[in-house]
Amino acid sequence: MKVLGIESSCDETGIALYDTERGLLAHALHSQVAMHAEYGGVVPELASRDHIRRALPLTRKVLAEAGCTLKDIDGIAYTQGPGLAGALLVGASIASGLGVALNLPVVGVHHLEGHLLSPLLADPRPEFPFVALLVSGGHTQLMRVAGVGDYEMMGETLDDAAGEAFDKTAQLLGLGYPGGPAVAKLAASGDAHKYKLPRPMLNSGDLDFSFSGLKTAVLNLKNRAGPDACADIAAGFQLAAVDVLAGKSLAALKQTGMNRLVVAGGVGANQLLRDRLNAEASRRGFQVFYPPLALCTDNGAMIAFAGAMRFAHAAPADGRFGIRPRWDLSELRAPA
Ligand code: KG4
Ligand code: ZN
Repeated sequence: MKVLGIESSCDETGIALYDTERGLLAHALHSQVAMHAEYGGVVPELASRDHIRRALPLTRKVLAEAGCTLKDIDGIAYTQGPGLAGALLVGASIASGLGVALNLPVVGVHHLEGHLLSPLLADPRPEFPFVALLVSGGHTQLMRVAGVGDYEMMGETLDDAAGEAFDKTAQLLGLGYPGGPAVAKLAASGDAHKYKLPRPMLNSGDLDFSFSGLKTAVLNLKNRAGPDACADIAAGFQLAAVDVLAGKSLAALKQTGMNRLVVAGGVGANQLLRDRLNAEASRRGFQVFYPPLALCTDNGAMIAFAGAMRFAHAAPADGRFGIRPRWDLSELRAPA
């Protein structure tokens, strides 16, 4: 079965074609980062308009690269939520329009389920069950994943998401948007141990996170130490964030008795986080899995794949046109 995936929840238009027999056939992405950069964040109306401009040309590109035509598609998956309402509507409209025109089934996919299952697009792929650390611009969660649609939340952030903390730190340090890669780059030339930043909730005894205090600490430090200290502050911040994310992930593995950890979402692209988790994995004897680097941040491939999983397990529960800008992952049900 060949599934066309459409991602348009935020500032990236992602289109992909996934074949349940042959794997990912092609994927294409247009990032709006440059367009939003001068505003310091995503402008929703600009995002929607750009998705409209990009989606069909990207779809043509993906089909051409896969050596396919519209007639080869067997089903369509689109990001139904959570995300920006206007941006989601673009993907939902195109998916529904194509579905009606081509007489194909359409399924709305939860964006975070896309992230959560994206490590299954890598080789080797993790087997169920596993613990998932979901770290994106909007979410920071530890989940127990027993199978497709079978997710149990073990802990989450009480305030800012990890990616948001990177983005806000970047802003405070005068770096561009998105902040994650910019902070990581600057941190490479800094001394992570020069300033001691807090590790919020690292020893709280539960699996929840908090990042807003870390951001405030960065602000205070920047005001005190001045602009010359930026690289050291970036390095100190990154190390503190990684300490917390790694520490809580280890605690989740211990609590569940599982020995597989899956890391997904944009912050999963962070090299220091990967180095730390890889080192802990070989020291403690668990396995850690990541999506292919290009599929860490938002993309169409993870939506095509999650859609294919839903089609494969059962007819989609709700194929009707619709978006869900606010949608809790724990509301998802496993396909029957
Ligand atoms: O998953 P994603 O593309 O979008 C959401 O669904 O939110 O994640 C984007 C987030 C941004 O906050 C970005 O700063 C962060 O991922 N990010 C990183 C890195 N690359 C992207 N954070 C730390 N290090 C990176 N290398
Ligand atoms: Zn995302």
